[in-house]
Amino acid sequence: MLEIKDLTVKVENKIILDKFNLTIEDGKTHVIMGPNGVGKSTLTKVIMCDLNYKIISGDIIYNNESILNLTTDQRAKKGIFLAMQNPPYIDGVTNADFLRTALSSKYEKNINLYSFIKKLDDAVDDLKMPEEMVHRSVNKGFSGGEKKKNEILQMKILEPTFIMLDEIDSGVDVDALKIVADNINKYKENNKDVSCLIITHYTHLLNYVKPDYVHVLKDGKVIKTGDYKLALQIENNGFNFDKVVIDAFNGSDASE
Ligand SMILES: Nc1ncnc2c1ncn2[C@@H]1O[C@H](COP(=O)(O)OP(=O)(O)OP(=O)(O)O)[C@@H](O)[C@H]1O
Ligand SMILES: [Mg+2]
Repeated sequence: MLEIKDLTVKVENKIILDKFNLTIEDGKTHVIMGPNGVGKSTLTKVIMCDLNYKIISGDIIYNNESILNLTTDQRAKKGIFLAMQNPPYIDGVTNADFLRTALSSKYEKNINLYSFIKKLDDAVDDLKMPEEMVHRSVNKGFSGGEKKKNEILQMKILEPTFIMLDEIDSGVDVDALKIVADNINKYKENNKDVSCLIITHYTHLLNYVKPDYVHVLKDGKVIKTGDYKLALQIENNGFNFDKVVIDAFNGSDASE
């Protein structure tokens, strides 16, 4: 589904991604972990065509086609979706109007109001969101956790095929995390080809949404790939992989 080839990205004259490579197949869930400021969010923004980030070299191939020449909305129409780490607010545009306009734009036709309202009501129920939130300006005054649920609401309505979730678990209470995870899992079950790129610092979400691969991003590259156990190891020991080797050598397997 997505192939990132030798991608080098600069922001404000600083190289953030340096010949970065990653391939994500249909139906797979990949996780990226890494210290603050290594470029995890940058990667998602570049995939979405945020023009603050300059691509120096490399390519992003989506369903066998380079998407580098496509604008953000063209990429979104192809089914690429980003739940942002810090979703912005849009004053004066209600959630409902925003979603109906985005949906009409995606399918290039006016979406029937009745079927849209039904779909929105069902999604709001699934997420246990107060119904009034769909009539408020997008993200305006939303709490941290409410914003994250609202990103998942967008995912459910817009029905993307490649989903990036950038710290969807941050600021979300324990019950809300379970609801968010259940909705991601249900969406994946109903859409078997959907691929996910999850960025997180912890294993909480991964206890519910099982990853196929866990990658560590550092110095602009993937420096390590593993499975769920790698995430656990990071949660226990941080990114100091040398220490794990030393602990294992001394007989205490720090990954347990
Ligand atoms: N518009 C910008 N102008 C200047 N520097 C930027 C800009 N955007 C990102 N950066 C820098 O690029 C680096 C990577 O940022 P990024 O947000 O991708 O990190 P991250 O891995 O997502 O970190 P975190 O875990 O804290 O979310 C950081 O040093 C950040 O300050
Ligand atoms: Mg980030």
